[in-house]
Order: sequence, then structure tokens, then C-alpha cells
Amino acid sequence: MDPRIEVIAKRLKNIKRIIAVAGGKGGIGKSSVASALALILSKMGHKVGLFDLDFSGPSSHIILGIKDYTFPKEDKGIVPFEYYGIKFMSIISFSGENPAPLRGIDISNAIIEFLAITQWGSLDYLIIDMPPGIGDATLDIIRVIKRAKFLLVTTPSKVAFETVKKSLELFLELKVPIIGVIENMANSKNTFIKDKLNSLSINYLDKINFDKDFEASIGDIEKLLKTNFAQNLKEIILKIR
Ligand SMILES: Nc1ncnc2c1ncn2[C@@H]1O[C@H](COP(=O)(O)OP(=O)(O)OP(=O)(O)O)[C@@H](O)[C@H]1O
Ligand SMILES: [Mg+2]
Repeated sequence: MDPRIEVIAKRLKNIKRIIAVAGGKGGIGKSSVASALALILSKMGHKVGLFDLDFSGPSSHIILGIKDYTFPKEDKGIVPFEYYGIKFMSIISFSGENPAPLRGIDISNAIIEFLAITQWGSLDYLIIDMPPGIGDATLDIIRVIKRAKFLLVTTPSKVAFETVKKSLELFLELKVPIIGVIENMANSKNTFIKDKLNSLSINYLDKINFDKDFEASIGDIEKLLKTNFAQNLKEIILKIR
């Protein structure tokens, strides 16, 4: 029995909602959704934390334009630094721009260590930006944060959906709470994803259209908040709050 697991429950006890943004495939918009979700909730007046759990491809700091990510303050653990009101934690505070190659057991250890030592304090929402797939990170979050609810992202592609479907089947089997699925980079009136989710009795939250201006807003919070992407996501947030 790892004593850190007990500590994690204590560390997270003053967080009202924990949302893990996940999905099967890479590059489908998980980090974009997680970062913008944290930003919009914070702008709405909520106390928000954002934990980038993608150790090999951390991206949230790039999307939000966080450049000054020095080693966090220590005080009975580590205290996440605040950026535009968001408490932010990522491997980049420790590895900087360098690669952080980790094997399975080391990934688990790093996740558990991060969760055991981070002082989030009291939050309305902790958003977790998950790496792709149902690997170590997903299995660990399910195991150590039973309260985490999963918000899944897919694209309209059959290929992306087949992979997200595997995550959904795993979550259903393990009785992991699923908030619903966002269809990102949507570009047509095609109802393929919606129909498939209906047949699995999974909540289809809505689509976020492909936004040609999104890329140019990366790293600039004010621009990002004005994109159609953010507008679409805001409407989804109002449904799940
Ligand atoms: N709705 C959208 N419209 C246009 N571009 C988008 C949209 N959503 C995401 N993107 C772009 O897609 C790319 C991948 O997004 P992102 O990094 O959020 O994906 P990811 O699923 O987190 O990837 P990874 O699996 O590598 O973590 C980014 O360049 C982002 O700008
Ligand atoms: Mg990502």
C-alpha cells in the first residue's frame, strides 16, 4: 500500500469538481479544450486549477502563453503558481523545455508524487489535461482520484471515434463517471458521432467547429477568449456546470 494515496485524498478534499479532459487519439484538441475550459471557468469567477498531466507532450502552457514557469514555491508541499487566476501545475516547471522521457512505472510514480505534494487549496474546479489514450496516466487517475469525471474529446473522424469508443467502453465497465463527449474540429452537419453516442447512451455535449483563427490565438489569452472555439466551448460549459 502506497501511503501517498491517503495523502492525495486529503490534498484534494477542498476541490469541488475534478474534470479530466481525455480522448483516444492524439492531436484532437484535448489540451485546447482543457486550457480554454480552465480559462473560461476562471473568467466566470470560479476558482480553478489546471494540471497538465501530459509529461511527454505538455501543451497547456503553450496554449495559455505561460512563459515564466520557474520551480514552484515550497510550503508543506509545492504551491502551484497562478496565471490569470488559474493555479497551474505541469512537468515543465521541473523539466523546462527539455524532454522528460518516462517509462510506465515512472509515469505512475510522477503522477502520484505530483498529486501527493501539490497544494491546490480550495478550488471550484480542477481541470486535468490528459495525454492521449488509455495508458498509465488514465488508469492512475481512475485509480487514485475516484471523484474525477471524464470529459471526452473526439473529432468527426471514424478513426478518432473508434479510439474514443474504447475509452468510453473502459470507463463504462469500470463505472468511471463520464460527463459527455465533445465533437471537436467539426465541419459539417454530419451526425455520425451524435448517433453513435446515442446508441451507447453517452451524453453528446455538442460540437466545436473547426476554427481557422484558433491557431493564431495560441499563446494569447485575450485572443483565445474571442475565438469561435471559446464561444462554442462556453455554451458547452453552461450545460455541464
Ligand atoms: N476546433 C479547432 N479548430 C482549429 N484548430 C484546432 C481546434 N481544436 C484544436 N485545434 C488545433 O489542433 C492542434 C492539436 O490540439 P491539442 O494540442 O489541443 O490536441 P491534443 O488532443 O491535446 O493533442 P495531444 O494528444 O498531442 O496531447 C493544435 O494545433 C490546435 O491549435
Ligand atoms: Mg494534449
